[in-house]
Amino acid sequence: MKAAVLNEFGSPLEVTTLPDLVLGTGEIIVDVVAAHVLSYTGEVLRGERNYTLELPLAPGTAAVGRVRATGPDSTRLRPGDWVLCDITVRSRDSLQAPDIVLQGWSARGPGGRQLMRHYRHGAFASQMMIPTENAIPLGPLDEADAGRWCALDLLLVPFGGFTAVDLRPGETVLDLGSGGGIDVLLSGRRVGPSGKAYGLDMTGEMLELARANAAEAGAANVEFLEGHIEAIPLPDNAVDVIISNCVINLSGDKPAVFAESFRVLRPGGRFGVSDILADDELTEAERLERERPVGCLAGVLSFTEYRDGLARAGFTGITITPTHEVTEGLQSAIIQAVRP
Ligand SMILES: C[S@@+](CC[C@H](N)C(=O)[O-])C[C@H]1O[C@@H](n2cnc3c(N)ncnc32)[C@H](O)[C@@H]1O
Repeated sequence: MKAAVLNEFGSPLEVTTLPDLVLGTGEIIVDVVAAHVLSYTGEVLRGERNYTLELPLAPGTAAVGRVRATGPDSTRLRPGDWVLCDITVRSRDSLQAPDIVLQGWSARGPGGRQLMRHYRHGAFASQMMIPTENAIPLGPLDEADAGRWCALDLLLVPFGGFTAVDLRPGETVLDLGSGGGIDVLLSGRRVGPSGKAYGLDMTGEMLELARANAAEAGAANVEFLEGHIEAIPLPDNAVDVIISNCVINLSGDKPAVFAESFRVLRPGGRFGVSDILADDELTEAERLERERPVGCLAGVLSFTEYRDGLARAGFTGITITPTHEVTEGLQSAIIQAVRP
């Protein structure tokens, strides 16, 4: 197969022919049609991000493509099917705490490096071999739209809380820590002209960016507020829904965030956020050691602490659904609750 290969950090990618991929059980080969090029790709390829990659390899992140061949344990996918290739590959001999790599992009620790020697090449190649469960069927699509589907996958990353709350026309929604505002713009579309979407952020630059994005999108029913999620600048009973993507873990006063969320929600209002939580079994020292590298400097809550914190603020119907492991013992999760 043809691939754009990185031989050395800092050297240009070299388009070359690699040995054909050999399919095994539990694997699938996909003909790559479109691939992400993330904004910081240059930093990775120049070695500035210190990603652990054993070179040479074809780098790359997610791709959209067509199934070329499936293993004997694949019963639904057929050659020619369109799929999204998810590069988050997990070792299979430890379901609770697998080694996790981003195929063709980064691998940590001895287990990760070992895994990446097999699931090696990323999407900057004519073909990719990925674990079967990483091929997400997309249904029929026009080849000319493959690049768009790839871009959509990038936009879906911040969808955590957004998808958890089932927004309805006419509702008022608040995004805690709205950053560049993508979730607010999407929420604004969902709730329609009779609804409203607020974004709250403490950082002037992010507010500026979000307001510029809203202006460009011509969004009339969105508003960005400056302030802190620990002291929400809205009156009591002001919103139907609270969403947030990976922000509450950054707060140094999480009880205040929960209490303020409860206060501004109307009775019957829904809280649906994504956040990072620690496994209950982690010791305090283990938690500290793992939080730092993933940037959770204010300290993450454990599953039990999160549930108790929401219950103490008055929330009911609390569910916590882990979505993926961020690092050993730290999980990304969707947390849903209701203000009774
Ligand atoms: C990790 S970014 C997430 C942005 C956005 N939710 C997304 O998914 O793209 C965190 C954002 O939360 C904001 N933030 C962090 N702590 C905050 C706080 N205590 N109050 C208000 N905003 C906060 C930051 O300014 C930043 O824009």
